[in-house]
Amino acid sequence: MKNNQGNSAPKSKSIERFSRSGFILAAIGSSVGLGNMWKFPYITGKHGGAAFFLLFIVCLIIVGLPIMLAEMTIGRGGRGNASISFVNLTGKKYWGAFGLLSILTAFMIMSYYAVVAGWTLHYTIESFTGLLFQSGSDYKAKFTTFAAGYWPIFWQAVVMLISGWVIAKGVSGGIEKFNKILIPGFLIILLILMFRSLTLPGAAEGVSFFLKPDFSKLDAESALIALGHAFFSLSLGMGCMLTYGSYVDKKQSLGLATLAIGLGDLVYALIAGLVIFPTVFSYGLAPGEGVGLAFMALPVAFSQMPFGSFFGGLFFLLLAIAALTSAISILEVPVAYAISKWKWSRAKAAVIVSVLCFLVGIPAGLSVGGVLSPFQLGGKGIFDLMDFITSYVLMPIGGLIVTLFTGYAWKRAGEEAGLTGFWYRAWMFLLRFVAPILIVFVFLYSVGLIKV
Ligand code: PHE
Repeated sequence: MKNNQGNSAPKSKSIERFSRSGFILAAIGSSVGLGNMWKFPYITGKHGGAAFFLLFIVCLIIVGLPIMLAEMTIGRGGRGNASISFVNLTGKKYWGAFGLLSILTAFMIMSYYAVVAGWTLHYTIESFTGLLFQSGSDYKAKFTTFAAGYWPIFWQAVVMLISGWVIAKGVSGGIEKFNKILIPGFLIILLILMFRSLTLPGAAEGVSFFLKPDFSKLDAESALIALGHAFFSLSLGMGCMLTYGSYVDKKQSLGLATLAIGLGDLVYALIAGLVIFPTVFSYGLAPGEGVGLAFMALPVAFSQMPFGSFFGGLFFLLLAIAALTSAISILEVPVAYAISKWKWSRAKAAVIVSVLCFLVGIPAGLSVGGVLSPFQLGGKGIFDLMDFITSYVLMPIGGLIVTLFTGYAWKRAGEEAGLTGFWYRAWMFLLRFVAPILIVFVFLYSVGLIKV
C-alpha cells in the first residue's frame, strides 16, 4: 500500500536551473573567449581604434543583442534543447530540423575548439615552468614543431575531460560553479596583466594604436568585420545561448541579462586590448592576431620581461580559462540534446558526446602541420576547413534561423522576453529586417561572394 506522505510520492523530474547571477556569469563565460583575447584587439587596432570600437558597439546593439535575446527567449519559452524548443513553441516539426543544424554546428565547433584550448594548456605549463624560454628564441619554430606532433592530441583529451566532467556535474553544480570560480579569477588575472602591460616602457604607443580614433580607416569592410565579430563574440548561431536560456528562471529578466552579458563581453574585450598592445609595442613586435600573436609573438616579449615566465604563464592561463568557459557552453548544446532525445543520464550523455567530439577532433588536431596536413580542400587543411564552415557558413545560417523564427514564426516571443511597447517594436524591427539582411551580407562577404 502506498502512503501519501513519504517516499512514494511521484518522483518529480529534477529540474535544472541556473541562479540569476550564475546564468549571467555562465553566459559571459561563453561569450568571453579566444575571440575577445586574440581577435578583437587586432581588428580594432587595424580598423581605426576607438572608431571601430564604436562601430562594434553599434553592431552589438542592432544585431548581436537582439539575436542573443531571441535565442535565450526561445530556450526559456520552449524549455528544451536547441532543436525541440522550436517545436515546442510552434508545434511544427520542420523547425526542429533547423534547430538540429545548430546542434551539429556546436558539435563540430567543440571538436576543433578543444584542439586550440589544448594548446593554451600546454603553453600555460611550459611558461610557468620556464621550459618555453629554454633552447633558443625561435618561438615560431617551437610552436610549429609542437603543433605538428602528437602532444596536441593529449591536451585535446585533457580539455575534453575537463569540459565533460563539468558538464556531467550538471547545470548548477557544474557549469554554474565552474564559471563562478573562473570568471572572477579571469578578471583578476586580466587586471594584473593590464597593470603589468600598461607600466612597460613605451606602453602609450600600444594604447594609442588600440584606441586612438581614426574614422578615416572605417569602411564597408570594417562594418562587415565588426558585425561578424559581434556575432561570434556573443556565441550566437549555434544553440549556446538558447540552451543556457532553457535553464533560466521565469522570473529573471532576459532583457537585463542580455545587457549585462553584452557589457561584460565588451569590457573583457577592452581590457584584453590593454593587455596585448602595450606589450606588443613595448617589445617592438608586429601587431597581429590569433595563433601567431599568442603562441609566436608574445612569447618573445615574455622571454625578455622580468618575471616573464610568470606573466607569460598568467597570460596563457587566461587564454585557457577563456577557452574552457566557452568550450563547456558549446559542449552543453549536444549533451542537452542527447539527454532529452535518448533519455540518457547527464553523466552518460556527457561521456559519450565528449568521446565522440574527441574522436572527430583528432583529425583537426593532426592537421596543423601534423601528419594529416597534406589533406586539403581549396587550400585549407582539416582544422581550417572545420573553422571556416562553422564560423562562416553554419553559424550565420543558425543566426538567420533564430531571427526568422522569432520575427515571423513565433507570435508570443515578446511575452516570453517581457518586452512591450517601444522595446518590443524595436526588437521585432531589428529581428525581422535589420539582422537578417545584415547577416546575409556578412555571409556573402565572408565566403567571398561579394567584395566591398
Ligand atoms: N564567443 C566565443 C569567443 O569570443 C567563441 C564562441 C563561439 C563560443 C561560439 C561559443 C560558441 O571566443
